Amino acid sequence: MKILGVDIGGSGIKGAVVDTATGELLTERLRLKTPQPATPDAIAATLKELVEQIGWDGPVACGFPARVIRGVVYTAANIDKSWINTEIEKLFSRTLKTDVFVANDADVAGIAEMHFGKGRDYQDQQVLFLTIGTGIGSALFLNGRLYANTEFGHLKFHGDSAERYCSDSARERYDLKWKEFGARFNEYLTYVEFLLQPDVIILGGGASKKFDKYAECFTVKTKVIPAETLNLAGIIGAAMYGEIRLKEAKKKK
Ligand code: BGC
Repeated sequence: MKILGVDIGGSGIKGAVVDTATGELLTERLRLKTPQPATPDAIAATLKELVEQIGWDGPVACGFPARVIRGVVYTAANIDKSWINTEIEKLFSRTLKTDVFVANDADVAGIAEMHFGKGRDYQDQQVLFLTIGTGIGSALFLNGRLYANTEFGHLKFHGDSAERYCSDSARERYDLKWKEFGARFNEYLTYVEFLLQPDVIILGGGASKKFDKYAECFTVKTKVIPAETLNLAGIIGAAMYGEIRLKEAKKKK
């Protein structure tokens, strides 16, 4: 299936048409700046611009940095607070005049990584996929099936949330060297390992590209590996999520 996958983030909105069977991008990846303030209407308008620039009139699916349940946004850690309770799928569908499907950004990136990346080797196991970016996103897979909308970046940690302590933006905010960041992230991994005991932890998001600079700080027993799909996972995974939703809709008819 050909679907426009869009990765909506705090600084950029990125999209490309994806062949969901191969995970290949069929158009160039286009990136527009996330408008500030990133309110629902402003993001919807930027999404429209992106779709028009790509020249696409087929189905669209997005990863969004919040808990999204049945088309409604319920959290807003790193996005404008006015998103809370917004009917995001209705808003985007109305704006684009086509069906738009939306899910949590880490969940969709995890779907791509499980299908086209390292997750292929762990289909019958318990996988924790974490994205390290502005926040920390999480996606939990049991035997290849997603337990959606987990928020392990918000575990209480040192009196605040874990993502305030050791996301990539925390690394920049505290001006941490990679080894210092690694030591912090290792503390966090030790905690999630204790809570969840996954078979493997896969790290995605911006900071996973620098995995070699800090991985030696990890002392957890669980295997920790960098994602393979890296920064395209959000786009590819969004398109794959769109395919799942389209197939579900077809079944219901
Ligand atoms: C949000 C998550 C999101 C993660 C990565 C967190 O602040 O609460 O929903 O997946 O950031 O963007």
